[in-house]
Amino acid sequence: MAIDPNFDQNREVVDDHQGHDVWGPVEEPEQLGIHGTHVAVDFDICDADGVCVEDCPVDVFEWVETPGHPTSEKKADPANETQCIDCMLCVDVCPVDAIDVDSTRA
Ligand code: F3S
Ligand code: F3S
Ligand code: ZN
Repeated sequence: MAIDPNFDQNREVVDDHQGHDVWGPVEEPEQLGIHGTHVAVDFDICDADGVCVEDCPVDVFEWVETPGHPTSEKKADPANETQCIDCMLCVDVCPVDAIDVDSTRA
């Protein structure tokens, strides 16, 4: 299952993490929601492949530890989403389609 590209209509912001939005539902540690708005990562889909962290030309992503999550115990957090230049590389390379980038979302 891929990230919902309309998550900003279908979900609600339930938290703030390092200055970016967290879209629920969140039920830690098993359910973590979507982090980020312009660059959005579905933490419940991310399986810590890491290619986004390695390949983003402007280092938008940083690892965060997520112990107890059933899919993986670390996630690519869009910590620097405001730096994104919309190259779309991360969207193309993520093997589980956990990332959505939309320049119309602030
Ligand atoms: Fe990086 Fe993805 Fe933006 S690779 S520049 S976060 S579209
Ligand atoms: Fe996760 Fe996909 Fe990046 S699995 S670490 S969001 S490439
Ligand atoms: Zn986050």
